Amino acid sequence: METKKDDRPIGLFDSGIGGLTVLRSLMTQLPSESFIYLGDTARLPYGNKSPATIERYLTQNIHFLERQGVKAVVVACNTASTVLLDRKMDFNVPVYNVIEPGAQAALKASSGKRIGVLGTKATVAAKAYVNAILKLEGGAQVFQQACPLLVPLVEEGWEDDPLTNLVIYRYVNPILQNGIDTLILGCTHYPALRGGIGRVAGPNIQLVDSAEAIAFAITQDMGTGRIYPSSQRTELKLLTTDVSPSFVEVATRLMRPHAIPALQEVDIG
Ligand code: DGL
Repeated sequence: METKKDDRPIGLFDSGIGGLTVLRSLMTQLPSESFIYLGDTARLPYGNKSPATIERYLTQNIHFLERQGVKAVVVACNTASTVLLDRKMDFNVPVYNVIEPGAQAALKASSGKRIGVLGTKATVAAKAYVNAILKLEGGAQVFQQACPLLVPLVEEGWEDDPLTNLVIYRYVNPILQNGIDTLILGCTHYPALRGGIGRVAGPNIQLVDSAEAIAFAITQDMGTGRIYPSSQRTELKLLTTDVSPSFVEVATRLMRPHAIPALQEVDIG
């Protein structure tokens, strides 16, 4: 029997550029799918804002992507995913968060169930990963560290700068003292710092990236018919609410080996 096809694109959004690490992973793992990416750069960062404000941004972004005709939305932003999980909101298309797939991937990777989480202040305050992990594995030990300085360093394009590496050390070294065996990169921007974080964490700590886990979750849903696969990729759009001078340069680096299309500035209001 022929599988049903749905050629509409998958929408995803982040507060900024970091969600391109999720787009890159989805493009690699779902080669037939089309994508529309929205970077809400005008309102970045979300990570220091209140849950009520983040909820408003989240709702506006999802409705905007629905109006673009997407078949599903991936909330690539961990901070916005945290609010989505807390609120149990309803939309017209399936909406994916990155926290639950990341928690599952961390438990799979962890031998001793001692897991560290790096995230924004909002993700850490809401204990998003802690709750998601404990729901799956009550005996796990989870330790968190908010890393608010890392997002602006990535947005600035300083992924491999000595200053960034020093900041990484300040954040990562304390969490290592808990004897963790796995560390979740619980923010869209941190996979861009994987090299520096890995150097501080050392070779015995598994780094888990939600970007890889979310593609797996979508593929599984295509098998159950919650969403249907496309026959081929026909579209890739990059939309932002503000164009910063460094965006194209950093986006090009984050998306490698995929080429990026011309950026379109949009008003989501
Ligand atoms: N996208 C956010 C996240 O993954 C990080 C950037 C921000 O604070 O807006 O949590």
